[in-house]
Amino acid sequence: MTNPILRTLAGETVRPLPIWFMRQAGRHLPEYKAVRATTPDFISFCLNPEKAAEVTLQPIRRYGMDAAILFADILLIPGAMGRKVEFIKGTGPVLEPMAVEDVAGLTVEGAAAELSPVYETVRRVRAELDASRTLIGFAGAPWTVATYMIEGRGTPTKEVAKRFAYAHPKEIGVMLDKLADATIEYLVGQAQAGAQVLKVFESWAQGLSPSQFEMLVIKPTKRIVEGVRAAGVEVPIMGFPRAAGIKAIAYAGETGVDALALGTDCPMDVVRAALPSLPLQGNLDPLALRMGGEVLRRAVDGVLESVSGPHIFNLGHGVAPDVQIANVEAVIAHVRGEEARYVPGVVG
Ligand code: CP3
Repeated sequence: MTNPILRTLAGETVRPLPIWFMRQAGRHLPEYKAVRATTPDFISFCLNPEKAAEVTLQPIRRYGMDAAILFADILLIPGAMGRKVEFIKGTGPVLEPMAVEDVAGLTVEGAAAELSPVYETVRRVRAELDASRTLIGFAGAPWTVATYMIEGRGTPTKEVAKRFAYAHPKEIGVMLDKLADATIEYLVGQAQAGAQVLKVFESWAQGLSPSQFEMLVIKPTKRIVEGVRAAGVEVPIMGFPRAAGIKAIAYAGETGVDALALGTDCPMDVVRAALPSLPLQGNLDPLALRMGGEVLRRAVDGVLESVSGPHIFNLGHGVAPDVQIANVEAVIAHVRGEEARYVPGVVG
């Protein structure tokens, strides 16, 4: 097998480390902004297979990343389940906040089928990728998606969603099960269309008590892993319990994911000691990528020193829009053992 990411996910220690970045397709790329400007509505853009496939491939062409991540969004699922979702320029996602009475009306049946343009994007990208590159499909984990559905937008603490979960344990359970079931079909659809890895983004795993973490994060994710496997899909599943701290270790064991992506705050060597053979991914600080220069060089060295075993180099979270292209290129060169020319970034 000539594909470094698939080899790593099969448990092999591959050096130089394979590399891709979360949000590698996005606003730091002029070629992304040019295509994006042709469809102002973000959801219509995600559901346009021609344009979504084009922007998925842009970071492969420009940077030679080892993986392409499907261009879509975790908030397509609530829309497909009957909730109103909009992306407002400068604000981000805005949803009609869910009340507890709305849980019963969430539709699972037909939700994944509504997202059929996404499967077409997957087919188009796979047809363009050579065998050494990996196409990663993805979905939001139920809790992370639920925080946006309940709160109506991204918030710093997710307190409203956490209170909803404490106050209505039965209804949050039903809601997360429904989200998991729609997500299973959605991920199966992506795999059947040609996605070679499935990544589950639990971007808001932080700050939960151990018992809420068990109920809101581990249980629904385990349901997804089991559901995808029950449908006969065998591609590796990567979980990303961002900022879950020490609970990431239990998450890996209990959910059954095949690989663990870790956020910026996570000491890779500690996780490796607890999980000796699990493929890991991460976790360069996206702020260091913005800052560039020697800060970035040292941060990359720090990640390289902390990793061992099967590992995929990535950020701990997404690329910011003000990142210098030269610095993305320098990180890739550095990780591949080539000469890295870091430049000063946009932040002091
Ligand atoms: O390159 C890639 O990573 C693939 C595409 C991708 C997007 N969103 C495109 C996008 C992926 C994997 C996502 C996942 C996603 N979406 C997450 C999980 C990962 C994470 O960042 O924690 C979350 C929480 C969302 C929800 C979301 N989508 C928010 C909060 C926002 C607004 C914030 C922002 O960056 O503008 C989005 C919009 C969005 N999704 C953009 C992109 C490229 C920017 C919008 C634009 O181009 O106009």
